[in-house]
Amino acid sequence: MADALKIGIAGLGTVGASLARILTTRSNELAITCGRAIEITAVTARDRSRDRGVDLSRAEWFVSPEEMAEKADIDVFVELMGGAEGAADRSVRAALSRGLHVVTANKALLARCGVELAAIAEEKGVLLNFEAAVAGGIPVIKALRESLTGNTISRIYGIMNGTCNYILTRMEKEGLSFEACLKEAQRLGYAEADPTFDIEGNDTAHKLAILTTLAFGTQIAADQIYLEGISNISIEDIHAAADLGYRIKLLGVAQRTESGIEQRVHPTMVPHDSVIAQVDGVTNAVAIESDILGELLMVGPGAGGNATASAVLGDIADIAKSRPGAQRVPVLGKPAATLEVYQQAKMQSHEGGYFIRLTVLDRAGVFANVATQMAQNGISLESIVQRANGGSASDAKTIILVTHATMEDSVRKAVAGIKGGNYLSGEPQVIRIERPKAL
Ligand code: NAP
Ligand code: HSE
Repeated sequence: MADALKIGIAGLGTVGASLARILTTRSNELAITCGRAIEITAVTARDRSRDRGVDLSRAEWFVSPEEMAEKADIDVFVELMGGAEGAADRSVRAALSRGLHVVTANKALLARCGVELAAIAEEKGVLLNFEAAVAGGIPVIKALRESLTGNTISRIYGIMNGTCNYILTRMEKEGLSFEACLKEAQRLGYAEADPTFDIEGNDTAHKLAILTTLAFGTQIAADQIYLEGISNISIEDIHAAADLGYRIKLLGVAQRTESGIEQRVHPTMVPHDSVIAQVDGVTNAVAIESDILGELLMVGPGAGGNATASAVLGDIADIAKSRPGAQRVPVLGKPAATLEVYQQAKMQSHEGGYFIRLTVLDRAGVFANVATQMAQNGISLESIVQRANGGSASDAKTIILVTHATMEDSVRKAVAGIKGGNYLSGEPQVIRIERPKAL
């Protein structure tokens, strides 16, 4: 049997501690599968005294991830701390520069400087693996980087944040408050250290940016993603969507258009009978539309210690099985230097259906004015209904409009016109509608 693969784990939180437990309890099976043992020889975290639920006394403790990357006797540096900058960035660069393989689950870091890191890895002839960075345990990176070679991809989209899907599902099915659901997602280890990244859509945007690069061969452009989170979604929206035959999901979507690549993250109404609408709780789903294969939908656990550690472990096992000096699959699917400049399609040109919920004062002419604003902007309506505000003593009424496919720019102009009418009570709610092809 070949020499053991020595790994150093930086970060022993939800994911790092799960990984250490799995490596410890499954060491014999892993050695047989990989043809060599995998040993944890170095570890680091902030608090040395904390019980991690696993015996790590045989591993050398380092006071900082940077020191571990520079000095530890390891073959693989496993970064499971998080953060787009700081210790994660410095230690990953140090490890790659030293010629160590790196495995990370850090989508924020990759979204910020993944191309640069890929270039260092390629120059040093080492692997930079990051399966766990997108959609938890779903092997979507491997699918894009290897299995779909030769396909031209036209659209990739999905539910990529377990915390948001967990919140939306429990709000809808159990009527729980947004805050209570978020707290539970944090307790279960799904949320980011700063959960704003989850609920405001940044985490989905980081993941989408990585997928866009793998799918379309362009440089990572996380700062050019249209972004809306779910903090603005009320139980009223969820119920109204259900009445119309839809469910609300936070989707990340990247698609080729005539003017460039459209990348967007926003709450989305999907038809109730589509497969993606049935994806509940912490589960994620990624759909890929390509010319040779057709439609592929991958569904699985999107967050949590074991689900994420499973993907990290797969990356480590790939390194354990790889031969020194062997040809490497480029980190981002294509050599970093050949990635094309990202050309952004403007959000104003997005075309699709829209749900618009207005709370209006109950005055004569309001309904007609709303319809006029729609007509003046060339928007064709699928439905328009007016409802009394359930139980409310005020004279406010709710108007719900669903449009046929129209341009984002037209909807923005129509909503601006409605806002100028001085009959609104509260901000209009606008939710885009997505119709998955066959799924
Ligand atoms: P976590 O529970 O907050 O754990 C972070 C770990 O990193 C802790 O052990 C912490 O030390 C250590 N750490 C943080 N800053 C450090 C520093 N400057 N120096 C040394 N150690 C440091 O986070 P997590 O949920 O495991 O997530 C880790 C990474 O995986 C993140 O990039 C996250 O986005 C990604 N990820 C997480 C999930 C998930 O479901 N949780 C899924 C996919 C990807 P202490 O324990 O001593 O505080
Ligand atoms: N906070 C992330 C989520 C972890 O909820 O999906 C997995 O990337």
